[in-house]
Amino acid sequence: MQSMHVRSILKTGPILSSTVDIGKTGFQLRPVAGYLSPRDFLSGLAFRVFHCTQYIRHSSDPFYTPEPDCCHELLGHMPLLANPSFAQFSQELGLATLGASDDDVQKLATLYFFTVEFGLCKQRGKMRVYGAGLLSSVSELRHAVSLSPSGEGKEKTKLKRFDPEITCQEECVITAFQNAYFYTDSFEEAKEKMRAFASKIKRPFGVRYNPYTQSVEVLSSAQKVAALVSELRGDLCIVSNALAKIREQDETVDVEGLATLLKKGIGIESGQNQGGKVDNAENSTNNN
Ligand SMILES: [Fe+2]
Repeated sequence: MQSMHVRSILKTGPILSSTVDIGKTGFQLRPVAGYLSPRDFLSGLAFRVFHCTQYIRHSSDPFYTPEPDCCHELLGHMPLLANPSFAQFSQELGLATLGASDDDVQKLATLYFFTVEFGLCKQRGKMRVYGAGLLSSVSELRHAVSLSPSGEGKEKTKLKRFDPEITCQEECVITAFQNAYFYTDSFEEAKEKMRAFASKIKRPFGVRYNPYTQSVEVLSSAQKVAALVSELRGDLCIVSNALAKIREQDETVDVEGLATLLKKGIGIESGQNQGGKVDNAENSTNNN
């Protein structure tokens, strides 16, 4: 299914004259003449917009390009942006930059670089590549997959475990292979670590993308959060009803595991529960 979407993009030709939808994840390609600043590029992701170059690498070196080109965008980024989980990861990274300081945006840009562009993760115990910079460069891909995790090899280039606090300090090499690549045990682990990092970014409000209005809502007051909680309750009710029905037919469904995942998501287990505040906020809204 994903390759069909990519084929349909290719049919439009390498030069984009307007935005193009990517699969069914809501992501759109928007043509751009060249590099954008990290803040501009990443804020596009917050709106599920991927800014896409329009030129192609020089024929003298078809297996490597120092700059992003159409091959890189179409072969590296597009298939993954058509994947719902990856699209969500990309958007969350973009949302984290909204209202963040220049310093934090730079850290997030570095994390984007070592995940979306050059990331690796394990799948069923085997190391896999998901970074678009690697997927669209045969020579760098060979180089990266030949490495052993840190401590097991003597290569100059290191394959290190992804840790946002450390990875965000790594130098991004633009015109040559990277000095280091980062991996997680699963793609979900990369998402969780990135979320934890983003949650520590200092800004006086939270943000949320509303897919119905295709806009970003600034959650800057208790009333706005209460309205969101009310909306989420509807979705959770749907989840709860569906789980109950599935459980009736299949008792092996890991309901406890799903409940734990949910509690983790709202910070109950880590002691960061905002529930009390939300309840109060909702009460204050009801009182208004
Ligand atoms: Fe890229």
